[in-house]
Amino acid sequence: MATRTISQMYDLKGKGAIVTGAGMGIGQAIALRLAEVGAAVLVVDINLPAAGETVRQILAKDGIAIAVQADAASPADAERVAQEALERFGRVDILVNNAGIFPFSPALQTTEALWDKVLDVNLKGVFFYTQAAAKRMITGGQGGRIVNIASIDGLHPTGNLVHYDASKGGVIMATKSLALEFGRYGITVNAIAPGAIATPGASAGSAGTQMTEEVLKSFMARIPLGRQGEPDDIATTALFLASDAAAYMTGGLLVVDGGYLLA
Ligand SMILES: NC(=O)c1ccc[n+]([C@@H]2O[C@H](COP(=O)([O-])OP(=O)(O)OC[C@H]3O[C@@H](n4cnc5c(N)ncnc54)[C@H](O)[C@@H]3O)[C@@H](O)[C@H]2O)c1
Repeated sequence: MATRTISQMYDLKGKGAIVTGAGMGIGQAIALRLAEVGAAVLVVDINLPAAGETVRQILAKDGIAIAVQADAASPADAERVAQEALERFGRVDILVNNAGIFPFSPALQTTEALWDKVLDVNLKGVFFYTQAAAKRMITGGQGGRIVNIASIDGLHPTGNLVHYDASKGGVIMATKSLALEFGRYGITVNAIAPGAIATPGASAGSAGTQMTEEVLKSFMARIPLGRQGEPDDIATTALFLASDAAAYMTGGLLVVDGGYLLA
């Protein structure tokens, strides 16, 4: 028997949230949606002005947010960020591991430095931010929600992204392992696999990724829903996983790709 309304389940007032890579793109959209339903959001990004812009947008809508500069690849920063969320908001309820990089590089040209950088940001960071947040969730005794932004590349290779694909495949498996260990604390751990989403990092010509018109076109041709995804398509899914509506889901993966993987 349902005892709570849908709006009660999606009400995150009084909750403390951390979103990494929240200065733009998918992370920014997630921070905005969490704040919209009342969560206090620690907006974490390596780019402080970008994090500040997300906070400005949240405050303009009477939300609660603080910008913090931190590196998703750094375990020390993970501890600092989780402690700051605890001290500023009084509790840590939600962590969204969103920060990620996707520099295209053919396997034969991929250097050790590039491999390490991509794995450190995309996979090591997910683990250590989760560990740091989970410690505070367990001490607080209220359980928690961890949402990892993986990728359809963790299931199906785009090409010239072996380092990225390995990192995102790792995120999907780490999500299951962590869900298994943290269930007893009332902490759920789930992942989202976005398809092609229109963000600054994924736009054609983006310096960070070397995403080309050709790759984008071949993606578009395979999408049954006929459009590229918007950051908010992922944000609304992350909000579901962070809410009580997803209370009985853990270790799961939601593919949000407009049907790309069906073709
Ligand atoms: N855009 C897509 O099509 C797509 C598809 C599948 C998965 N994803 C995943 O979604 C996530 C967000 O992607 P996006 O497209 O919004 O990216 P984006 O490049 O548009 O934005 C990423 C944000 O993360 C920040 N960031 C980068 N490295 C960081 C670090 N080391 N520490 C802290 N912050 C850092 C950047 O400053 C930026 O604000 C990534 O994990 C990405 O792999 C994106």
